[in-house]
Amino acid sequence: MKTQVKTIQQRYKIIGREQELEKALAAVSANKHILFEGTVGIGKTVIATALANHFNRSFHRVDGDERYNEHKLTGWFDPALVIAKGYSRETFIPGPLTQAMTEGSFLFINELNRMPEGTQNVLLPAMDERQIIIPKIGPIKAKPGFLVIATQNPEEFVGTSRISEALEDRFVWIRLDYQTESEEQKIAEKETGCKNYDIIAIAVKIARRTREHPDIRHGASVRGAIDITELIQPLSDSQTLNAHVWTGVAIMALATKIELQDQTTQKMENIIRGIVTSVLNEYAKDASEKATGRSVNKTETQKKRNLASDSSKKLKTALNEGNLAKVVYLFQKNPEAISEILLEENLFETMLKMAEHSEPRWPALQLLFVTQASLDPKRRQIAKRILNRTIRRIAAQIVGKRNSPYKMR
Ligand SMILES: Nc1ncnc2c1ncn2[C@@H]1O[C@H](COP(=O)(O)OP(=O)(O)OP(=O)(O)O)[C@@H](O)[C@H]1O
Ligand SMILES: [Mg+2]
Repeated sequence: MKTQVKTIQQRYKIIGREQELEKALAAVSANKHILFEGTVGIGKTVIATALANHFNRSFHRVDGDERYNEHKLTGWFDPALVIAKGYSRETFIPGPLTQAMTEGSFLFINELNRMPEGTQNVLLPAMDERQIIIPKIGPIKAKPGFLVIATQNPEEFVGTSRISEALEDRFVWIRLDYQTESEEQKIAEKETGCKNYDIIAIAVKIARRTREHPDIRHGASVRGAIDITELIQPLSDSQTLNAHVWTGVAIMALATKIELQDQTTQKMENIIRGIVTSVLNEYAKDASEKATGRSVNKTETQKKRNLASDSSKKLKTALNEGNLAKVVYLFQKNPEAISEILLEENLFETMLKMAEHSEPRWPALQLLFVTQASLDPKRRQIAKRILNRTIRRIAAQIVGKRNSPYKMR
């Protein structure tokens, strides 16, 4: 299966999508009709087309819209021929469904959920009984190999509705989500032929940022990044980070692709301008940090430092108060950071002593258990020794007082 996936990727220039392709291959091998679901521009058509080509079956493509009626799908009688010859197979012009069935090929229906319900219903007998009845001709049977591959956008999209349960039931479902940033960069590169990787990276970042913006209901797909890349090239020349140029291009490319939240008071242009500015600023900063050799993300390091000093304060307070339960809690929450603090600030010995002599002993025991796993061998040895001693003392206490360990908590 994996080699087949590789072949499809190479032959049809599909970037990534290994798992989805594997699932699709399994479905076709098992003769299952496939419904690809995903948002606009996610790659439904490109994958479905590659699949049909890979299996070397001819395919008939249908683009679903609200005017696509039943007769367009099954076929119709030519009026002039009917007058001359009457109703017969000869005077019947087969539609894509009938053609795919009689040839044993793929019927590729793009945007199935945009088709009227009546047209969708024609597919029901074709898909499971593998036959349809054409009035005045009779049954048309499907040859082996006939398969429906359909795509649909999720239901919340304008102009679409959900397909019927009966129709859904006849498909296996493959969901397509947005791809990773680096895969989208490769797609944009493949589609545009652009070799300026700064341009591609910025265009992809801008498109992706629209998907997270609180004022945007539907962000742009990789098509947005492709369009930005293609438009910026003739306009930008050397001034790659010119915000004015980028904003103009991004508005051109994205205004038709994104949908704002109903309640937003912001204008589309301003939202896009904000996104472009923040992406360019980040990009410029990253570039200068890379140039000076500081590749570490400063804010991340700062965050880690703050967290460490916060944990250190909490740990010291808990130790000062002799609150071993709190120490255990802090340790379990962040074992690495706390053991580092214990060692760096020489608190380890204090903690062990407290664990050994404290009352009640249950948190002490817990603490010795949790700490020893993340210590260096020498200290682990000490912790183990104290742990054993503590267990013996607890056992003696239980025997002496005929107490259950649970009461000791
Ligand atoms: N994984 C991929 N590998 C290569 N190219 C891709 C991939 N995904 C998307 N593309 C490219 O991105 C663009 C959009 O993909 P496609 O037309 O297949 O989307 P779609 O889901 O069918 O969109 P729509 O919902 O509008 O029909 C195309 O140019 C396509 O070639
Ligand atoms: Mg499509």
